[in-house]
Amino acid sequence: MTSLATTKARVRGAHAEVRVPGDKSITHRALMLSCIADGRSMLRGLLPAGDSWSTVGALRALGLAAPDLPADGAPVTVYGSGLRAATAPSAPIDCGNSGTTARLLLGLISGYEIQATLTGDESLRRRPMRRVTEPLSAMGARFEELGEADRLPIRVTGGALRPIDYASPQSSAQVKSALLLAGITGGVEVRVTERVASRDHTERMLRAMGAEVEIDRGEGDAYTVRLAPPERLSPLDCTVPGDFSSAAFFIALGILSGGGTVRIPGVGVNPGRTGFLDALRRMGAGVEILDPRDVCGEPVADILAGSAELHGIQVDAKEIPAMVDEIPILAVLAARAHGETTITGAAELRVKETDRLRALAENLRAIGVETEELPDGIVVRGTDRPLSGRVRTDGDHRIAMAFGVLGALPGNEIEIDRPDVAGISFPGFWASLREAATALTR
Ligand code: S3P
Repeated sequence: MTSLATTKARVRGAHAEVRVPGDKSITHRALMLSCIADGRSMLRGLLPAGDSWSTVGALRALGLAAPDLPADGAPVTVYGSGLRAATAPSAPIDCGNSGTTARLLLGLISGYEIQATLTGDESLRRRPMRRVTEPLSAMGARFEELGEADRLPIRVTGGALRPIDYASPQSSAQVKSALLLAGITGGVEVRVTERVASRDHTERMLRAMGAEVEIDRGEGDAYTVRLAPPERLSPLDCTVPGDFSSAAFFIALGILSGGGTVRIPGVGVNPGRTGFLDALRRMGAGVEILDPRDVCGEPVADILAGSAELHGIQVDAKEIPAMVDEIPILAVLAARAHGETTITGAAELRVKETDRLRALAENLRAIGVETEELPDGIVVRGTDRPLSGRVRTDGDHRIAMAFGVLGALPGNEIEIDRPDVAGISFPGFWASLREAATALTR
């Protein structure tokens, strides 16, 4: 690993420094778990974005004391009311665009003797929910699908739960976390096995709060977590790291900048999230991880991304969980690589905020990049021609930001139909992008 001092000496040419807002996954978990902890938590750097507000609203509807989210990530105090304090909401809970809010809350509510209806925006109402309601039903919670099968709105009736030992068919942190949260509020043991580990933020945070969480890394990539239900959760004192998934857009900007470097301080580099960096290394980009440290049980570092010539690579199924949210920006980088990039084993992308495989293929073609859509992936043929056209985001924040990076580079003319959707995970994205792109191309 390179030290900050040696690297500074190597920063030549145009340079931009970008701060990214707090990690979205960790923000959801910090809000939920601090509200059901015993006593006063201190949280710094919470993400003040659309999805986090959905979690705040949902927790308040359950009678829990979720805080306001300061726009600058300033410290907030959360008064946790213990494991048994949630009350039935008086109206359906709107989870907005946030799959994590909906799925984790279905788990959390399952352990309470209350009834609640969860719904969401048009995109969220198209996303599958049985992946959580089926194992939660096996634990003893009851679910009524009030609209279409497998979709929100869903009424959950929680209550006395049974332990579960679940082999998860997907590597999904939302599924795993929903079951762990049900174990916490329902007071039962939970074991979840994944063929390839998904992000482990819930496990790390529960440990930091004193819960007994055992991890077993089995054969190959297999992963098992076992939770012994705690009597109580200790409050958190935690700084949420910068969101790696937000940093990824600026890493890409640095790589495509034609001679510049971008430094992003204080980013979470949990190995369950940084598969994108491994893919970039194979493509020929040397992204550096500087000053690695531990913040509240999560690995954090500064990231330095310099401009590089990329070449196409192959990405397969077992790599997807650790880069599941970075496939849009990876596909955009592939559009600027020499040769062909093939991503397979990524069918999960079809059930994200939009069908991201379709959205990527259609939009890459719309701006002049030869692209083939596969049932479970995408093939992108890189080009160095100027790119121009209109991008249809379908309301998906990561599609908007990924193509936004291309649009910020000289020579490209790219119009994004709904730039506002970036606010779901990254308020201030366009201003940061403009500023960084200006610094890099000055
Ligand atoms: C998330 C898990 C991932 C990811 C999503 C956030 C989380 O979803 O795509 O953006 O915070 O647990 P899956 O669990 O469906 O893979």
